[in-house]
Amino acid sequence: MNIHCKSNEVPVQSIPNSERMRTLKDIFMVEFGCNPSFFARVPGRVNIIGEHIDYCGYPVLPMAIEQDILVAAGLLDEPKLCIRNVNKKYESFDVKINTFEELQIENDQNEKPNWYKYVLCGIKGALEHLNNKKSSGVQLLFDGNIPPASGLSSSSALVSAACLSFLYAQKAHLNKTEIASLCAKSERYIGTHGGGMDQAIAFLAERYSAQYITWQPLKATPVALPEDATFVVAHCLAEANKAATDDFNQRVMECRLAAKILLKVSNGDKNHKITTLREVQETLRTTLEDMVNLVHKQLPKDIYTKDEICTLLEVSEKELDSLYLSPNTKHFKEFKLKQRALHVYEEAIRVESFRKVCLEVLRDEKIRKSNGTNGSDKTYENGNGNKHKTLEILGKLMSASHESLKNLYECSHPNLDYLVDLSKKMGIHSRLTGAGWAGCIVALCPKDKTEDYIQMLKEEFYSKQCNVDKDKAKHYVFATSPNHGAVIFK
Ligand code: GLA
Repeated sequence: MNIHCKSNEVPVQSIPNSERMRTLKDIFMVEFGCNPSFFARVPGRVNIIGEHIDYCGYPVLPMAIEQDILVAAGLLDEPKLCIRNVNKKYESFDVKINTFEELQIENDQNEKPNWYKYVLCGIKGALEHLNNKKSSGVQLLFDGNIPPASGLSSSSALVSAACLSFLYAQKAHLNKTEIASLCAKSERYIGTHGGGMDQAIAFLAERYSAQYITWQPLKATPVALPEDATFVVAHCLAEANKAATDDFNQRVMECRLAAKILLKVSNGDKNHKITTLREVQETLRTTLEDMVNLVHKQLPKDIYTKDEICTLLEVSEKELDSLYLSPNTKHFKEFKLKQRALHVYEEAIRVESFRKVCLEVLRDEKIRKSNGTNGSDKTYENGNGNKHKTLEILGKLMSASHESLKNLYECSHPNLDYLVDLSKKMGIHSRLTGAGWAGCIVALCPKDKTEDYIQMLKEEFYSKQCNVDKDKAKHYVFATSPNHGAVIFK
């Protein structure tokens, strides 16, 4: 039940009477000797299409999943932060919180950050937003069931749950879009230059629909997915933490450099403020298709050396480092610009096509329901056969997205490719979801095939390839449907 819920504010609901909540409360009592003052819940997400384009300014289409981070929070009189996890493999951490500047989140480059550093990111961001004004310290006990390092946004949910709890403890009122943007900014303290997709869907998600997320200003528009489609998530059993390698930031920087060069060679503009491929498209007032042609024309080489890029941009190496590169990408001597920019513009086209088909399906379903007929000729004239055709169009867009991520963006993994190929043999289209380099695929499955598909993956991949028994495999492959965003329980 909602206690209060102004639209665009994180809803405050009464505490659910569940086993998980009771256990969390009991463990909180053991850890801190008191009851929690409130709880917060932030979901993970699966991105249906639009991968690695949020940080280039393009819309994406994720949905929240059922798996989440749940946190029990208590208030302290002293300026202190006490972090605990229900799972004892995650160590405890206590620290004084005076100012955000003092809260250190240094991470050794190329090392997997300790879990609580994500919590610190959320608190640091919140403190910075509050100009270090705080009324309480906090005790936080976390319980998560989003598989870590799997492309389902476990780290962003952790950052967001920490930031949300801290702000709520300080009685700070931020609306959902403000807090989503703050959490995206906060997570960059870990060192990765992510876009805002994960945090946006964490707060703006709604039940029953995916969200078409657009930027500047941040906005989420619900997109109803076809009724006869199920989205299945399958873990490839390899993990990748994007803060533990340079790969993620390297892609972000390559897109940034491609944007700078396209702008420079197209209209001589040296505007330092323009850094995204979308801003270039907007400046040139042209279509995405024209941008694809422009990339072929202006970025023809497979590899650009740092020297070549400096010459093209008329900057010194020092300027290039300080203006456009992150600390962990300055040492790179070569960059792939054509491939990355092509992926971004073509993926942005695929997102638009996907959304358009979903809107058409919805319109046809509405017409069909209101007329009691079969709706428009194109989609439904022959009942199920044509419904499957629509799913085939959407599926093909997802397959094309995977091919592009594998070949142009080079962020797949042999296990992910194996799962995608296996799915294709059964006529199911799928793609890697999230940052990639390991983690999960998301597959679009006609509802009537879902059980057989999951069964096939359990046998052919989890059992035969990975020796995982069927009972355990259910944690790695599951059907999912759009869930709601973050909530406070009190
Ligand atoms: C990570 C980032 C997101 C997005 C995806 C790739 O999840 O946090 O912002 O860039 O990778 O689409």
